[in-house]
Amino acid sequence: MSNKRVLLIICGGIAAYKSLDLIRRLKERGVAVRVVMTEAAQRFITPLAAGAIVGERVFTDLFDQAQEFDIGHIRLARECDLVIVAPATADFMAKAAHGLANDLASAVLLATDKPVLMAPAMNPRMWANQATQHNFSILQARGYHVVGPNAGEMAERGEAGVGRMAEPLEIRDAALALLKDGPLKGNRALVTAGPTIEAIDPVRFLSNRSSGKQGYAIAAALAELGADVTLVSGPTALAAPLGVKRINVESARDMLAACETALPADVAICVAAVADWRPSAAVSEKIKKDKSGVPAIALKENPDILATLSKPGKKRPKLVIGFAAETNDVETHARAKIVKKGCDWIVANDVSGDVMGGADNQVLLITQNSAEAWPRMSKDAVARKLAAAIASALTAKAPRRK
Ligand code: CTP
Repeated sequence: MSNKRVLLIICGGIAAYKSLDLIRRLKERGVAVRVVMTEAAQRFITPLAAGAIVGERVFTDLFDQAQEFDIGHIRLARECDLVIVAPATADFMAKAAHGLANDLASAVLLATDKPVLMAPAMNPRMWANQATQHNFSILQARGYHVVGPNAGEMAERGEAGVGRMAEPLEIRDAALALLKDGPLKGNRALVTAGPTIEAIDPVRFLSNRSSGKQGYAIAAALAELGADVTLVSGPTALAAPLGVKRINVESARDMLAACETALPADVAICVAAVADWRPSAAVSEKIKKDKSGVPAIALKENPDILATLSKPGKKRPKLVIGFAAETNDVETHARAKIVKKGCDWIVANDVSGDVMGGADNQVLLITQNSAEAWPRMSKDAVARKLAAAIASALTAKAPRRK
């Protein structure tokens, strides 16, 4: 990491003292760190302390002529590989979500074209507040990476809940994952994972048993190779892999909308178990038992995300990959699916055994002109092998297009 540079924005929260350790941890790995502190941050730790650890001056003032002539906010924003905001306070997230730029930290954030990693830290009620959650979802949808916040004791006596800043080592590891150069550096990947849920009424839904494990493993493996990964996920119990942007959705229609927003991408991998149908009538009130006996639920077909992403056009990813669960004639069915969906590759699971929900998988990788049976291996190993195949296809610049 000796050629990597991080711009660390420290905001005003009690967790700011941990940012001093974060600087040390990043430097241990050879990452050059430059620090910007907000005015509120300077109430918790001094620029002198941060400057001593970082080994250079700390930047604090947008309107200081000396600082502006020295480096200036535009250079600060651009001369780095990653911007980390730690701690990211509720106030700073609100400013960032709405594009305010009235101090050096917010102006730098608005001016940067680099990836941003935020480590939120605040009181649990402030974190849970609708305003903060709304701002957080805006930042996530904009592609900001997030680490934490964690659950635990707060600095305030007797307070506990979600809001603690992630530990310096966690933030460092998330940053290293984003800084890593791999064969997929510079490539954008879109992965769908998990089930979708389709509302019957406000309290009931149709769904399936997908755990999301294989899709999450693929997102993680692509990020490991340096790709900029967006994971559009239905509800799962899994944590977002390091360095991966996760967009949470519920229905198939939401998943499609999130995927379309995430484009352009170089590769799209549809691993989600999208519900094929949804209740055709959107019922806004809970269906009562006493009305007219057992209700009939009429269904309507959901959009096919894989087929939609595969449609020829300017926004079509260079490589579109689908999954297919088959119990027999795996290759024949998978080839038919390539044609039906218009995708480039199909990863066909043989689900005749105990693959569903388990830790292992057995797949056949079908491309336009080859079929490769992979031995049974863990879902993580399948993910790494698939990520390697994607890397060689994208770097060879010769994936077959429909
Ligand atoms: N898929 C999708 N959107 C849908 C349905 C499926 O993106 N509405 C994607 C899945 O993510 C997967 C592939 O399409 O990549 C699976 O296709 P599907 O036709 O659902 O195949 P199977 O689940 O194998 O079902 P079947 O064999 O019954 O067609």
